[in-house]
Amino acid sequence: MGERKQVEISVEELEKQEYYIREVRKINDEQYGNTGRHKKHLTITYGCQMNEHDSEKMNFMLSQMGYAPSDNIKEADIVIFNTCAVRENAELKVYGKLGHMKSIKRIKPDVKIMVCGCMMQQQHVIDEIKKSHRHVDAVFGTHNYHKLPEFIYESYGSEKTIVDVWNIDGQVVEGLRSIRKFDTKAYVNITYGCNNFCTYCIVPYTRGRERSRKPQDIISEIEMLAKDGVKEVTLLGQNVNSYGKTLEMEYSFAQLIRDVNEIDGIERIRFMTSHPKDLSDELIYAIRDCDKVCNYLHLPVQSGSSRVLSKMNRHYTKEQYLELVAKIRKEIPDIAFTTDIIVGFPGETEEDFQDTLDVLRQVRYDSAFTFIYSKRSGTPAAEMPDQIDEGIKHERLERLMSLVNDISAQINETYRGETVEVLVEGPSKTDKTRLMGRTPQSKLVNFEGSEELVGKLVNVRIDDPKTFSLNGIVL
Ligand code: 5AD
Ligand code: SF4
Repeated sequence: MGERKQVEISVEELEKQEYYIREVRKINDEQYGNTGRHKKHLTITYGCQMNEHDSEKMNFMLSQMGYAPSDNIKEADIVIFNTCAVRENAELKVYGKLGHMKSIKRIKPDVKIMVCGCMMQQQHVIDEIKKSHRHVDAVFGTHNYHKLPEFIYESYGSEKTIVDVWNIDGQVVEGLRSIRKFDTKAYVNITYGCNNFCTYCIVPYTRGRERSRKPQDIISEIEMLAKDGVKEVTLLGQNVNSYGKTLEMEYSFAQLIRDVNEIDGIERIRFMTSHPKDLSDELIYAIRDCDKVCNYLHLPVQSGSSRVLSKMNRHYTKEQYLELVAKIRKEIPDIAFTTDIIVGFPGETEEDFQDTLDVLRQVRYDSAFTFIYSKRSGTPAAEMPDQIDEGIKHERLERLMSLVNDISAQINETYRGETVEVLVEGPSKTDKTRLMGRTPQSKLVNFEGSEELVGKLVNVRIDDPKTFSLNGIVL
């Protein structure tokens, strides 16, 4: 694959966006004048943080156009599905929801239905929507969601499904603002796309080739966020460790986090995802030296078997991965690791699977995202022989999850009686009268406290550790 020139989205493109925002706003304001009711939107997001952040940016455009947020699919005037293509299950859910929307649209013909995100970057999905889901108003992709206002505007005057999916992947969209879920923490894109072509993964095809944002754009955005009260940033990329490779200047991810560490007001820096093959010593030292960088690393292993890792095109062996973890732990003893693991990759034997369990026992992850291999058409692994029986995949997943959870519970138990530093995020999900926040190691902590603590760093003594969270008392 040749080098591609990286271009930023043109000023005209953003001016066009502003024009359409104003036009839709006029329509919505007029309707508000007639009915006294604000139009509402619901954005349903599947998949990774990248998608979540894209949705946050669309939600900002929607609020500028005068839509109020809603969590009721029947009440919303516009429903946007931001989709994920990584596994078949997520795709099936979207088709199910689109089926459901058909009956809603029969009762409420004015409701606008839009589908975007990774699924839409695949031609067979577009064909399926055109054929079986003609009630969809607009389909767009991962590269051009900044055009949402234009799609909404056009959909008001047309019954046809608008299809606008860009295949160019040299584009970096700058200047989009977002509505954050939390006031205290924010996502910041640093790279888009992926060049790794792990043989099971659809992402390089749906999000295109890797390109890095300019350091100055990233730093200015974080400075603005800090002024806005944000305390924690998570730098996002499919593989943050290769940040900088497409820049004209010499500048690495390690340098970026050292520079972000200097920004006043930011208290915590996180990042994801780190590909083990690109994790440099320079980065390990930067994590160790920068006081704001959390001692937490999401380091997907995918499999513990060197044979399977090679077939996955991961570029490391079991031994190299374990050595890397040991090297990081030597420099940063209290670092917590989490990971992604796939079971049932084509040709995976019981022995390969035992290697995965072995890595788990040796690394002792704080937690792990565990997945059953899902065949993605167009990826090399989909064509590999010896696809694994569904029953075996499920049985392996059960065993894997049980070990992951045992280890999580054991690690959490070591926190009993310990005091941890928590950045308070807001009310607890399970009990709204309590607060929740996270430790630098990304442990979820629930405790009693007043709302004024939101956005602050507090010390909490853990008195009741659970498998997936810690309960404690503010000191
Ligand atoms: N099947 C199962 N899991 C997958 N992932 C990516 N592609 C697939 C697939 N085809 C997992 C990987 C990746 C995470 C985001 O999703 O573990 O790290
Ligand atoms: Fe997919 Fe591999 Fe790229 Fe991650 S690094 S997005 S798993 S191809």
